[in-house]
Amino acid sequence: MTDQQPMTAARPWTDPNAVPFLQIKNITKKFGAFVAVENVSLDVYKGEIFCLLGGSGCGKSTLLRMLAGFETPTSGQIIIDGQDQDGVAPYDRETNMMFQSYALFPHMTVEKNIAYGLKRAGLPRAEIATRVTDILSLVQMDRFATRKPHQLSGGQRQRIALARSLVKKPKLLMLDEPLGALDKKLREETQSELIKIQESLGVTFVVVTHDQEEAMTLSSRIGVMTDGQIVQVGTPHEIYEYPQNRFVADFIGSVNVFEGRIKEDGEDHVIIASPETGTDIYVPHGIVGVEGQKIAIAVRPEKIEISKKQLIDMRNNINGVVDEVSYMGNLTNYHVALSSGKRVRVSQSNRTRDDDDALSVGDKVNLGWAGRAGVVVTS
Ligand SMILES: Nc1ncnc2c1ncn2[C@@H]1O[C@H](COP(=O)(O)OP(=O)(O)O)[C@@H](O)[C@H]1O
Ligand SMILES: [Mg+2]
Repeated sequence: MTDQQPMTAARPWTDPNAVPFLQIKNITKKFGAFVAVENVSLDVYKGEIFCLLGGSGCGKSTLLRMLAGFETPTSGQIIIDGQDQDGVAPYDRETNMMFQSYALFPHMTVEKNIAYGLKRAGLPRAEIATRVTDILSLVQMDRFATRKPHQLSGGQRQRIALARSLVKKPKLLMLDEPLGALDKKLREETQSELIKIQESLGVTFVVVTHDQEEAMTLSSRIGVMTDGQIVQVGTPHEIYEYPQNRFVADFIGSVNVFEGRIKEDGEDHVIIASPETGTDIYVPHGIVGVEGQKIAIAVRPEKIEISKKQLIDMRNNINGVVDEVSYMGNLTNYHVALSSGKRVRVSQSNRTRDDDDALSVGDKVNLGWAGRAGVVVTS
């Protein structure tokens, strides 16, 4: 995506006239007295890779299964491509689902696994053969057509499962932790392939993952879930830079949260007195709040400067003592203890090989961040 593109073409959710492809309206799912999904409403547009992101047990799979028709909502409405899905069986929906376990038939070859759904749908033989060949070449598995699942690696099985879920040309594909079984390196490679395949077919994807990096890499937008509810929807950039509450700030990446009370509530700025930092924190925009009100500021570790020298041009300055240094290769993470006992995480990228100003445990340091680096979060 480039900035030259018209905003609405690449970002249909910003166009008030765009019609969502998938509409979820006030969906609730109860298992007995337990509420697994609570009053979720969400619009997904054609061509999106929308990620449902959240910790284990927050209701992601249950929501996905309702979209595919494997679970019936307790209340609410699901509309796909203008059609109410109430009472529509999974195989009658223009959707498909790729399961976390892949669910390949062990006794069938790759080819037969992929052809299975098409055969059941009664497609002519020649058409089945063409479609299977095409989809195998799309996922770069043509050479493995006659193998059985146990003769494939994890990554190869993942591609076959993907091919099988795409071969019926669903309009909407649900993927439940699609890369969960792959190791980190393979997962990263597969993420970009998944995006390419999705773009070449124009299918809309709804992906469930508990892995925030994966969601950031794959998604057009992310819906962050906790306790059966969606707490924020936004692009990866919006979710990371403008978390609306503490849960989202904490869940996506690492973050420092400083608590305090509003000391000065200006039109275009706020000053927060924070016992944790021992200083006043400056926020360069107005907020809805009153003096004396409790409030928190979230600052990402990479937005904080750290130095033994005095930092200039920083709106916010605090000092502390380095109490942990972890060298990660591309960056170094520091924990800095403040006199209040609060520990601050700071990360700095390692641009050069030699660092004359290297910091060690016990060093007295100055920390600083620009006014706009902090985000006001509610609890
Ligand atoms: N069939 C079911 N019967 C009872 N409880 C269920 C059932 N399916 C899921 N749950 C519960 O609903 C919650 C959400 O589950 P799930 O959607 O699988 O979470 P996630 O995919 O986010 O890990 C969990 O607490 C789970 O135990
Ligand atoms: Mg799940």
